[in-house]
Amino acid sequence: MGIVCPIYMYNVPLIVADFIKKLKNIPYLFLVLAGGGEPGNAIKSVKKLCATQDLKLNAAFNLTMPSNYAPYGSTPQDKQQEMFSKSEKKIEFIADVVTASEKYFDENNTSFFRSNIYPGILYKLGYKFIPKMDKSFNIDENCNGCGICEKVCPVDNISILDQKPEWDHQCQQCFACLQWCPQEAIQYGQKTIDITRYHHPNVTLNEIMQSSSRK
Ligand SMILES: Cc1cc2nc3c(=O)[nH]c(=O)nc-3n(C[C@H](O)[C@H](O)[C@H](O)COP(=O)(O)O)c2cc1C
Ligand code: SF4
Ligand code: SF4
Repeated sequence: MGIVCPIYMYNVPLIVADFIKKLKNIPYLFLVLAGGGEPGNAIKSVKKLCATQDLKLNAAFNLTMPSNYAPYGSTPQDKQQEMFSKSEKKIEFIADVVTASEKYFDENNTSFFRSNIYPGILYKLGYKFIPKMDKSFNIDENCNGCGICEKVCPVDNISILDQKPEWDHQCQQCFACLQWCPQEAIQYGQKTIDITRYHHPNVTLNEIMQSSSRK
């Protein structure tokens, strides 16, 4: 079994941690973490979580991808291309390791403070505030009520009322709604007004909607 997910706050998103807690008797478990270049000790944290569940993590890989944390801006196009090329090679390597059911762990190249102290504090204390951080989302006059934001949300956190989205405070902060709104009408406070929206070139809107659909 493989878990492929983003890194949030130097760890896996809470929804993924909750999923891991439900796993049992997995003969070979691997983890692929897409991060924006600051993995910290995410692999070690998942290893520890697995150990508490009597699960063994057999392999774990970090993939550096463009950051989708919109309030911090967007990764320049040329840098994105560089990341995609490197990630393709890494994915081939991951496929080889996993196909052979080998043991493998990417090393942590981050400093002690950024790997241990900061992530621990941030994740333990900060994560509980994430669901309600959708209070900072707002829409501008370009919203045409198309409902795409509702459909791309992986946790059904958006409802369209009177042709406008409303957030339900169960957010995971994946930023899919903001990144995929065709009108670029969703902003996060004032920080995202001028940023270029990020889409992986091989992923279509339909695929995002299908993967988020719970029906
Ligand atoms: C809420 C949030 C927190 C993040 N925290 C980290 C982090 O601690 N370290 C890191 O390298 N990237 C971090 N990122 C960046 C994402 O991990 C990265 O952009 C990843 O490629 C996103 O994958 P996706 O496009 O499949 O959602 C964060 C992104 C979000 C939205
Ligand atoms: S996707 Fe954008 S334009 Fe469509 S309803 Fe949502 S905010 Fe409005
Ligand atoms: S799409 Fe992501 S960021 Fe937007 S409301 Fe849903 S969980 Fe939150």
